[in-house]
Amino acid sequence: MTRKNIYPILSAEEAVSFIRNDSTVAFSGFSPAGAAKAAPAALAKFAKQEHEAGRPFKLRILTGASSGKSVDGELATANAVSWRAPYQSEPLLRKQINRQEVEYVDIHLSHVPQMLAYGFLGKIDVSVVEATEITADGRVYLTSSIGASPTFLKYADKVIVEINLQHSPRLRELADIIVVPPPPHRDPILIHDAMTRIGVPYAVVNPDKVLGIVINDEPDHVGEFPSPDTDSQRIAGHLVEFLLNEMKVGRIPRTLLPLQAGVGSVANGVMAALGAHPDIPPFHMYSEVCQDAMVDIMASGKLLGASATGLSISWAKLQQIVGDMDYFASRIVLRPQEISNHPGIIRRLGVIALNTAIEADIYGNVNSTHIYGMDVMNGVGGSGEFTRNGYLTAMMTPSIAKDGKISAIVPMCPHIDHNEHSVQVIVTEQGLADLRGLGPIQRAKAIIDNCAHPLYRDYLSRYVRDSRPGHIRHDLNRCYELHRNLMAYGTMLPS
Ligand code: COA
Repeated sequence: MTRKNIYPILSAEEAVSFIRNDSTVAFSGFSPAGAAKAAPAALAKFAKQEHEAGRPFKLRILTGASSGKSVDGELATANAVSWRAPYQSEPLLRKQINRQEVEYVDIHLSHVPQMLAYGFLGKIDVSVVEATEITADGRVYLTSSIGASPTFLKYADKVIVEINLQHSPRLRELADIIVVPPPPHRDPILIHDAMTRIGVPYAVVNPDKVLGIVINDEPDHVGEFPSPDTDSQRIAGHLVEFLLNEMKVGRIPRTLLPLQAGVGSVANGVMAALGAHPDIPPFHMYSEVCQDAMVDIMASGKLLGASATGLSISWAKLQQIVGDMDYFASRIVLRPQEISNHPGIIRRLGVIALNTAIEADIYGNVNSTHIYGMDVMNGVGGSGEFTRNGYLTAMMTPSIAKDGKISAIVPMCPHIDHNEHSVQVIVTEQGLADLRGLGPIQRAKAIIDNCAHPLYRDYLSRYVRDSRPGHIRHDLNRCYELHRNLMAYGTMLPS
């Protein structure tokens, strides 16, 4: 950090004393990577004191994406969140949202900066951003994620900077930051391959807005992934076979195309399998986050380079990167989320998008977010941007959940994040359905035969056979029968 600087050094408690009930606070963080830590903990403590004194204290919370325990965990535990956007994945906050105690706005992540710039999300009263340094002229060197922090710094009324001494200042070598102005003043974004750099390594803030600096030394709270389970390995196997065949028949170049992988253990397992397969050539990623598996593949030389907005990786893997920064700095670029997830760039580069679904219907519509169409799991995140705009877009899911009580292939999804026009391939551990060029009835057959679990295939085939004919066959009295059974009996096919 700039150890001699013009900004007052504050305790976390002093810093958050500027934040009032009902304020909108924008925290840095894309996943727990680079999330603010000291200030949210102090805010949670203050909120509890206010509640004990009988005074209201709740905040409207913005981040880049999820933020993990340090923001969502702390503030949800203190019952201090009234409104949340654009993504979250913390179990307690999820419960509060589904009990309607917290209003939750689930947003495509590349839209966040422009929605803020347009004023659609209201004004940011205070932004708290983690950095390794802020200079006297307002350059802010961010840590393990970029996310929407450059926009928060630009539009917030006041700013608190958490200088995290645990993070290596060399993380700035990964950063490539621009802030896209509102239309009609937008120039083309000249990213022609996954690694093109177009910006500067720092975000910018008006020094007059900085309330002060909080010194912190807490590491990112990103957990380690378990080894891929059998389902993830089978899903990966089907995908690898499919991609190899696409290369063989010339629909994907021999050098592959940049890959994007979604969040979670299935996506992490798939990346590990791609990295390990001898016939998959060295490749690039144009993705949203780097997960653990990607670091190993990069270290082995198989992953040539990765563009992302956050290093959502365990602390041990992060130390591996900063410990060998001369190697990794030319292979990782961290961008603002409006660039890492930019629809135009995803289309231009021809990204192969691999995301995870909660369920898919027999026609290829996908629900990634809402159990029964009602209870949110996490949010759409960046899956929409990549699935709508990728060159080849696959949705992955185990075919059953909860020991077979739930089928991930259903007649009709009760909530749809990605529709049949965007989803090209569905993969489960059972197999892969390539939906390109298929009409609805052909799609239903491919998905039921290749992806549905044998326990559910007959039910789904009979559903199609017995439904009202049309371009798409449905029976509006029965299309949610499996979901209704699940809610009533705890299983989709009660005996
Ligand atoms: N109905 C009800 N519950 C279901 C279900 C279904 N169809 N399918 C899965 N579940 C349950 C699982 O049993 C599990 O429950 P548990 O937490 O009690 O064990 C839970 O939902 C999570 O399932 P899991 O298979 O472990 O999910 P995951 O970690 O692979 O994540 C998503 C899957 C879809 C939730 C996750 O990828 C996500 O949030 N995606 C949307 C955002 C996104 O794609 N971002 C990346 C873009 S770059």
